[in-house]
This record gives sequence, structure tokens and C-alpha cells, in this order.
Amino acid sequence: MRLEGKVAVITGASRGIGKSISEQFAREGAMLVLSARTRSTLDAIAEKLRETGVEVLVQPADVSIERDVVALIAAAARNYGKIDILVNNAGIGIFKPVSETGTDEFDALFDVNMRGVFIATREVLRHMVEQNDGTIINIASLAGKNPVENGAVYAATKWALLGFSKSIMLEMRKHNIRVVAIYPGSVDTEFGSGHHPDGEKILQADDVAEAAVLAASLPPRAMMSEIDLRPTNPK
Ligand SMILES: NC(=O)c1ccc[n+]([C@@H]2O[C@H](COP(=O)([O-])OP(=O)(O)OC[C@H]3O[C@@H](n4cnc5c(N)ncnc54)[C@H](OP(=O)(O)O)[C@@H]3O)[C@@H](O)[C@H]2O)c1
Repeated sequence: MRLEGKVAVITGASRGIGKSISEQFAREGAMLVLSARTRSTLDAIAEKLRETGVEVLVQPADVSIERDVVALIAAAARNYGKIDILVNNAGIGIFKPVSETGTDEFDALFDVNMRGVFIATREVLRHMVEQNDGTIINIASLAGKNPVENGAVYAATKWALLGFSKSIMLEMRKHNIRVVAIYPGSVDTEFGSGHHPDGEKILQADDVAEAAVLAASLPPRAMMSEIDLRPTNPK
């Protein structure tokens, strides 16, 4: 039980990587706040987890809407009296050539993948600084370290997230707050509808969740600030 008694807020918890992180955090003894836009999916996950004795609060939020994100962090703090871990996981992918990318698509990508992370982080830091403790895990991407053909705007959101994550890591360590960026390669989820390369052995959502558990359960004095996660043998 590596996360016993820890309160974790997870965005994008309704499927894919966020769902796996929620399940593995629960197995490790964490109390959860599950968020995404779709309440029914979150309720179904919460019900299953509660049957195993896990404490779960469901707080739907669209991370591109500021008041939703503010309400999410406030509800988590009100319910549990503290927030130990924030996992900024909610994200969207739109993969097409720049010449065919609409400004509305550009805005949507940045609103969810970067602006939402900024707002959630700002809101949670108010609690974590007061607690003098906390861990923020940002689910970035290897697309935030490499160029992505037909994915320039998505890549740009994740490059931005890298700069944000590394900067707040430096800013917040004096408050004993750890900031961790996980950079997975392609993961076998519904994300971005089928941009995964054919025939490659890609990562599973559980692999990313394992990395998140590991990062959150290090001794408080130690911070694993960046994790590149790729398949050992992709062919
Ligand atoms: N899959 C990959 O290949 C891969 C690789 C590297 C990094 N990543 C990153 O990993 C994260 C999770 O991806 P995934 O593969 O698990 O994707 P996924 O299966 O599509 O799940 C995305 C999650 O985010 C939620 N979400 C989407 N838009 C949202 C919004 N506006 N507000 C709040 N929640 C929202 C979705 O729930 P609702 O639709 O109910 O809101 C869902 O729970 C993303 O940040 C992605 O960039 C993925």
C-alpha cells in the first residue's frame, strides 16, 4: 500500500491512462477524486472501486472551462481536507497536417492540454504550498520532446507542457512539492482515434499507471522529475 492515506485528484479518469492510474492508485491505498466530462462513466468506475472499500469522490469537470477546474480542486479540498497528489492527465489529440487544422482545433488542443493543466495546477498549489507537501504528475508525451509529422499542434501543446512542468518543478521544490512529467510514447487507448503506428508493440495504460505510482511513492525527499516511457522492443 504505497499510497495509503493519500488524496489524489485525477483528471481524464473515465478511460485510458487516467482510469488505469485511478485503479492502481486505489489498489495502493489512495483516496480518490475522479474527474472527466462524462459523469456516468465516472460513476460506474467509482461504484466498482467503492465495492472494494476505496473512498471516491466524483466531480465532473471540463478542463477547458475555468470554473469547472476551480470547482474540482475546491470540492476535493473540501471533501478530504487536503490534496496530496494531482494527476493532470486529461488530454485530446487531433492529428492532421497544419494546412488542414482549424483555429478552433488549435484552441481546443491548447485549452485542454495546456490551459486546463495551468488552471488545475494553480488552484492545487494554493493547498499544497499551505500543506508544505504535494506531488503533481503531468501526463505529457514523447510528442513533447520530438517533432510529430501531422501532429504539430498536439506536439506544441506537449512541448509547452514540458516547459511549464520543468519550470514549476524548480519553483515549487522549496515548498516540498514534487512536479513530475511522464512522457509516454504511443499507448493502447482510444486516444486521438487511431494515430498509433501499425504493427508496433505499444505501451499499455497500466504501464503509464505503474510509472505514476512509482513517482508518487518515492520517499518525500526524492523527486523523479521526468520519466520517458517507451516500449522496450517496439517491433
Ligand atoms: N494514448 C497515447 O498514445 C498517449 C501517448 C502519450 C501521452 N498521452 C497523453 O495521455 C493522456 C491521456 O490519454 P489517453 O490515451 O488515456 O486518452 P483517452 O483514452 O482518450 O482518455 C482521455 C480522457 O480525458 C478525458 N477528457 C477529454 N477531454 C476532456 C476535457 N475537455 N475535460 C476533461 N476531461 C477530458 C476523457 O473523458 P471525457 O471524454 O469523459 O471527458 C478521458 O477520460 C493525454 O494527456 C494524452 O495526451 C497519450
